Amino acid sequence: MQKKTVGVALCGLGTVGREAARLLWAGRARFSARLGAELRLAWVCDRQAAREARALGLGASVRRSADWRQAVSDPSVDIVVELFGGHDEPRRLVRAALAAGKGVVTANKLLLSRRWDELTGAARRTGAPLHFEAAVAGGIPIIRSLRDGLAADRVDEVHGILNGTTHFILTAMAHACTPFAEAVREAQRLGYAEKDPTLDLDGTDAAHKVAVLGSLLAGRWLPPGSVARQGITGIEPGDIAWCVAELKRTVRLVGTAAVRRRGPRPLLEAHVRPTLLPLLHHLAGVHGGHNALLVRAASAGVLMFYGAGAGAGPTASAVLADVLAAAAEVLSGPDAPGRAGSLPQGGGAPCLTAPEAPAAHYLRFMVKDVPGALARIAGTLGRLGVSIARVHQDDPPGGSKPVPVRLVTHAAPRALIDRARGAVAALPIVTGPHACLRLWP
Ligand SMILES: NC(=O)c1ccc[n+]([C@@H]2O[C@H](COP(=O)([O-])OP(=O)(O)OC[C@H]3O[C@@H](n4cnc5c(N)ncnc54)[C@H](OP(=O)(O)O)[C@@H]3O)[C@@H](O)[C@H]2O)c1
Repeated sequence: MQKKTVGVALCGLGTVGREAARLLWAGRARFSARLGAELRLAWVCDRQAAREARALGLGASVRRSADWRQAVSDPSVDIVVELFGGHDEPRRLVRAALAAGKGVVTANKLLLSRRWDELTGAARRTGAPLHFEAAVAGGIPIIRSLRDGLAADRVDEVHGILNGTTHFILTAMAHACTPFAEAVREAQRLGYAEKDPTLDLDGTDAAHKVAVLGSLLAGRWLPPGSVARQGITGIEPGDIAWCVAELKRTVRLVGTAAVRRRGPRPLLEAHVRPTLLPLLHHLAGVHGGHNALLVRAASAGVLMFYGAGAGAGPTASAVLADVLAAAAEVLSGPDAPGRAGSLPQGGGAPCLTAPEAPAAHYLRFMVKDVPGALARIAGTLGRLGVSIARVHQDDPPGGSKPVPVRLVTHAAPRALIDRARGAVAALPIVTGPHACLRLWP
């Protein structure tokens, strides 16, 4: 018999969950009309579920609990929305829901990237829908575009500005010459950065999103530890200003997942790097805290996606689109024709990664103003096999202050660049942290 009602349990009433609950409750009639069956918010689960449900004005029909197990064990619940954040408890919740054959919607890139294989495997075993649009780039429908819009195409590359915090900071440094530490404080004040912004600044958050995108592209799990990563710490406004003036390039933290088809098994090139983009590059035109993705597909060509990568409204919009997709799948049943093809793939061994394509790099060192300093740096790089395309020493600031020495290398493998910059940084004439930026090829 055709199901008449799809029950939803929403777990986590924080920034995203509150807005998702509000929109789901307010739009229930519209959503139900679209589905041709009642879409019912059956449960909200949160440590403060009762208080939050009251504040949101949810009706008495919506049950509330601090314990998600109550909702997952309720047979009237067909879809569980995980908006707790974190790893251990959401993992238990998602596994329990999938094992019971319930659809899952999650915005949790940390959980997905670390447990892709386990969770997609669990979904395939029961045919349960698993949706995660909000886990990458918030309100931008990139996952749906890759899974559905480009389903008939071969997507070879995705490059993205995937972290709003670092993007906001880089833009502030570029536009107002704001020093790094001050730009971080400004991002915190405006709500772009968390109290502890480490996982944003060191590229970990972007690497989780690259891992999800890479797993989708490869059809195999790309563990986040396989994504080479560098954050934005160490970059100064002077680096950006010089690169804009002299190289006609500006810096963005770019996450890349690119399929390299060599041999029978495709390899994935996957990294997060502060990258110098030509000023007219699509991703260079993205400013402020927004996200953007550039997708290269065999038949569709180059596509650009742009929008809010976080925030209650955009993220809740993506969550609810997933709830509607999952509800339609619940209604059609796990054995409906075409269902198997729409499930994310992930079985077998994790995908293999390809070494990063050789690239030119910008390096900046703070060097004591002593005779022969430039020759020693050039000699160290040359000995290690890194050739220099360009070198520039700023005017000495006077006194005993170190002078910035800026170099642009010819294209070289990243491992070589890392060895060479480490050797230069260890020279006694070099002081303080240095900068290393990859040039977009
Ligand atoms: N915020 C965004 O803009 C954004 C954008 C994209 C994706 N996401 C993802 O969306 C998810 C939710 O993010 P958020 O910003 O909404 O998080 P949040 O504001 O911290 O909300 C999480 C809520 O879940 C509750 N909770 C956590 N674990 C629980 C448990 N075991 N039992 C009961 N309640 C529990 C928390 O209660 P306590 O506060 O008491 O712990 C809190 O109310 C995360 O995975 C995040 O990465 C967020």
